[in-house]
Amino acid sequence: MDFVPDYETAKKDVRDAIFGTYSQAYTVTNEDLRKSMRLMPKKCDDALVVAGSGDHPLFCSLYGAKNVDTFDISYNAKCIMDIKTLALNTLNHQDYIRFIKDLYNISVPLMDVKNMDRVLYKLPKTEYDYIYALKDFQIFSRKSISLNGAVLPTQFEYDKLRECVKSPYNFILSDICKMGGKLTKSYDFMHLSNIFDYVQSFNYEFVILSLMEHVNPGGRIVTQFFAGGNDDIFGIRMTKLAEKRKNWIFNKKMINSVGKFDYLRNGIYVLERVR
Ligand SMILES: C[S@@+](CC[C@H](N)C(=O)[O-])C[C@H]1O[C@@H](n2cnc3c(N)ncnc32)[C@H](O)[C@@H]1O
Repeated sequence: MDFVPDYETAKKDVRDAIFGTYSQAYTVTNEDLRKSMRLMPKKCDDALVVAGSGDHPLFCSLYGAKNVDTFDISYNAKCIMDIKTLALNTLNHQDYIRFIKDLYNISVPLMDVKNMDRVLYKLPKTEYDYIYALKDFQIFSRKSISLNGAVLPTQFEYDKLRECVKSPYNFILSDICKMGGKLTKSYDFMHLSNIFDYVQSFNYEFVILSLMEHVNPGGRIVTQFFAGGNDDIFGIRMTKLAEKRKNWIFNKKMINSVGKFDYLRNGIYVLERVR
């Protein structure tokens, strides 16, 4: 990725709550990734997921995707994703969990997190310089996510992850609304959770149609909403869209998740390109 961050804009924009190039990245996911990643097709050579807190691509690899590409509107999401990927290959399980918990609990500077020095210098230079330039700014945030709800890898999952994730994930810095035009390959699985909540509803068809061009036969686009409200509109529009297109089916899958993952009660939307 050739992006060169603009430190001054970043310092200004990182305080903004609105999602953008320099909006704060989440330190941990609040999604039940162990459940939603099971919606991955059995054969998954290529997957595309939001970088988010870095947990999405990790769990996507864990559940069997051979190659995972990532995207996010925020450059900070790439930073936390790369930090987690490198920490995974540097620390043992116990230290990794401690590392994530510290990352969650600490505000600034990031360098105060135990073992951060062992990880940061492995980052690409552009990212390393950026993180140092913004060391007094909170580029990662817990937002309103509780650490109890976080999906931290078990020892077993961690060992498996270390075997399958050896290098940082490819990253596309993009608003999802413009991403279709930037994709250069096709995927078996697109996991787009908690993003359409922030896309204006008049854009739903346009965005999904541009992504459908990049789904392999047998592949799926998985979407879920958090807030409710627009998810029904999305469901109705996707049903119509799939009806008009040969070889596509649309389903709402109900997932048995309660308590901390209560948001899933509305179900997960799956658009599938049949073979
Ligand atoms: C919407 S947030 C919510 C947190 C999420 N539930 C998790 O577990 O990480 C997920 C990610 O989507 C990104 N995002 C938000 N709007 C976007 C957009 N229009 N295009 C691309 N990424 C977007 C954010 O930067 C963030 O990293």
